[in-house]
Amino acid sequence: MVRASADTVVVYPAHRVRGRTRVPGDKSISHRYAMLAALADGTSTLDGYSPGADCAATLECMRALGAEIRRIADATIEVLGCGVRGLHAPETTLDAANSGTTMRLLSGILAAHPFRSVMGGDRSLMRRPMRRVIEPLTRMGARIESDNGRPPLTIEGADLRGITHVSEVPSAQVKSAVLLAGLQASGETSVWEPATTRDHTERALRAFGADVSVESTGIFIIGGQRLRAGRFAVPGDLSSATFWMALAAGSPGSSVEIENVGLNPTRTAIVDLLRRAGADVQTDIDSELAGEPVGRIRVSYGEPRTFEVEPHDVPFVIDEIPAVAALAALMPEGSELRVSGAAELRVKESDRISALAAGLRALGADVEEHEDGFRLSSRPLKGTAVDACDDHRLAMAFAIAATGASEPTTITGASSVAVSYPGFFETLERLTRGDGR
Ligand code: S3P
Repeated sequence: MVRASADTVVVYPAHRVRGRTRVPGDKSISHRYAMLAALADGTSTLDGYSPGADCAATLECMRALGAEIRRIADATIEVLGCGVRGLHAPETTLDAANSGTTMRLLSGILAAHPFRSVMGGDRSLMRRPMRRVIEPLTRMGARIESDNGRPPLTIEGADLRGITHVSEVPSAQVKSAVLLAGLQASGETSVWEPATTRDHTERALRAFGADVSVESTGIFIIGGQRLRAGRFAVPGDLSSATFWMALAAGSPGSSVEIENVGLNPTRTAIVDLLRRAGADVQTDIDSELAGEPVGRIRVSYGEPRTFEVEPHDVPFVIDEIPAVAALAALMPEGSELRVSGAAELRVKESDRISALAAGLRALGADVEEHEDGFRLSSRPLKGTAVDACDDHRLAMAFAIAATGASEPTTITGASSVAVSYPGFFETLERLTRGDGR
């Protein structure tokens, strides 16, 4: 890897990957701990907090809302909570930067605070759909203005009442926004999901002392509960680890072990998917931190084969599809990946269907784009120039695929990896060192 400019890197072919690594703190869990710590009574210490720009945006927002936050070591922060419904009106517009999780979860918190706040973000966030949180939060009693369902959001908080929300999209962000509002509302709030999405909010609320119950696909919370500050450790991010898993699964003779990674069962569908793709994957749970299982994953090159992501798989591997597409591109010629029922990818940090198809096609894969997915047939990859469209997961996916190309590949929009994985290219360099250079 060579950094050609602040936003451009050159990735070199690498034929075998071996090694062990850790990944940065889980993005989803970091956001939740920072927000709950700001709402708790007392001072919380968060270890292993994500170093990414998304989670930094959450910290800045919580600071602007009155929580005192100090960095006491590289990945350790201290948050002095303001108590449930105790945040203060911000003096300026809250900047959620590139982070949909910040904007949607924070909407649920702000909906219950009796002041007006405005929340915006970068160009990518400004095109993302927010009606899915505006609708239930409005029903609970908040007033929210938007630009036709998109940011900026102007939120006028109120005394909320509990609701039953039947979510049409399987979205952990929507579920979390409603549960966070429910924590601060009168009576009971329940959320029903079409499929069980990542449950970090439920686990985090319990770790901060709140009572949340779950019955089949329904989650229930009674308003008016207090949150207890504490010391919490964030495990490594499985979605970031997936890039190394895809690299090992797609490069003959390779094997990679990732330590201290979150193995929450609502996130581990990627492990089964990689096995379906022929990879040899072992997982071991070593401990549980604040209700989150943590352990090790070892992935070795196995017998790559054609595989499919079907509509019912999509909610459980939505963030991993770029890495999985890179794996498919690395597979022996003629292997295939089909993805369907994944239209949600079009409203992520970029239109991930078009941008993935364009980048992997430029690298030499045969990609057919569909409205709700794509079909990729592997072909020998060649070095080229690709644009990650300022989307962190695309920059990392293209880098993984580029290791299998016959010549170096230039990736622009590469600085976006800082959103979730600031040291990504350095780790890529270390794991592939000595190969193909
Ligand atoms: C997240 C939920 C998912 C995921 C996102 C993080 C979360 O989004 O894609 O990266 O932390 O709750 P949706 O809830 O919109 O599916």
